[in-house]
Amino acid sequence: MKVLANDGLAQSGIIALQESGFEVDLSTIAQEQLVDYLNSNEISVLLVRSATKVRKDIIDNCPSLKIIGRGGVGMDNIDVSYAREKGLSVINTPAASSHSVAELVFAHFFGMARFLHESNRNMPLDGDSKFKTLKKSYAKGVELRGKTLGVIGFGRIGQATAKIALGLGMNVVAFDPFIDAVNLEIEFFDHQALFFNINTISKEDVLKQADFITLHVPAQSDYVISTNDFEIMKEGVFLVNAARGGIVNEVALLEAIASGKISKAALDVFENEPTPEIQLLMNPDLSLTPHIGAATGEAQSRIGTELAQQIIDILK
Ligand SMILES: NC(=O)c1ccc[n+]([C@@H]2O[C@H](COP(=O)([O-])OP(=O)(O)OC[C@H]3O[C@@H](n4cnc5c(N)ncnc54)[C@H](O)[C@@H]3O)[C@@H](O)[C@H]2O)c1
Repeated sequence: MKVLANDGLAQSGIIALQESGFEVDLSTIAQEQLVDYLNSNEISVLLVRSATKVRKDIIDNCPSLKIIGRGGVGMDNIDVSYAREKGLSVINTPAASSHSVAELVFAHFFGMARFLHESNRNMPLDGDSKFKTLKKSYAKGVELRGKTLGVIGFGRIGQATAKIALGLGMNVVAFDPFIDAVNLEIEFFDHQALFFNINTISKEDVLKQADFITLHVPAQSDYVISTNDFEIMKEGVFLVNAARGGIVNEVALLEAIASGKISKAALDVFENEPTPEIQLLMNPDLSLTPHIGAATGEAQSRIGTELAQQIIDILK
């Protein structure tokens, strides 16, 4: 049986599938040619990340297709319920990248707290001629230790950020309308573990108390952070959105940065992906990454292994 990994697949997944007798095709087929390609090559499994869309045209017109697999979490690029109605299996790997996303959140927080995103832009330009000026510009750093992390959306990634924060000596407050309390297991390198109980509180209380805010909610129709939410926050807060574009109102965010309400913010995801607004790209108080939350070797390797295992379980 043939598997088309249209947006790529880690070596771990390729090997596991091949060892179970699958043929793995790593071609990248343009969206409009996918139906023809799937049919002429009798593809049984279509694996995608976020680039390839799997809509009704593919689901209705490709009889050889048995499984649609998403390497990662969000399945907004797949018509999941329609595919299941039509008898296809739709699989994903929801937990495989949580830790990678959580680490990216802290990469942004640490970077912003010490002006690294700005310093890395300006040192190559002015580091030899204006060293002392730059040193003064970046002199008012802050520590994370002792500060309060506010987590909005306390699922897999939200909890992974909380574990890192607790390890750093931060206080953690969280809001999630569907979770009342979580008993977090914080594992250490030598397999010792500590359990830490966190009761969620209201969104308003999180926004009032947090010095650092991180968002980990699924895609939804309304903004989760907009003008009135920024108004509730403390002055000079740091914010990261590594969840989905459209969670934060980007216009309101720029206003909150201009007013000083937000000290700095980081975006890994954008309302207009893959062409973010130029006002965001040019803002010196934004630390920016191009949707790379899950883009580590470790996460991709776990994704490959988990997808392969699910495919083998379904088809073998
Ligand atoms: N940046 C990246 O590359 C990257 C990688 C992986 C996942 N993600 C995104 O991260 C987000 C979280 O993923 P996850 O694995 O933690 O999902 P999850 O389903 O484990 O957790 C999401 C949580 O958000 C809660 N929630 C829903 N609506 C809410 C709201 N309005 N306010 C507060 N909480 C709300 C849910 O109850 C749930 O507990 C998703 O949007 C996912 O697409 C981004």
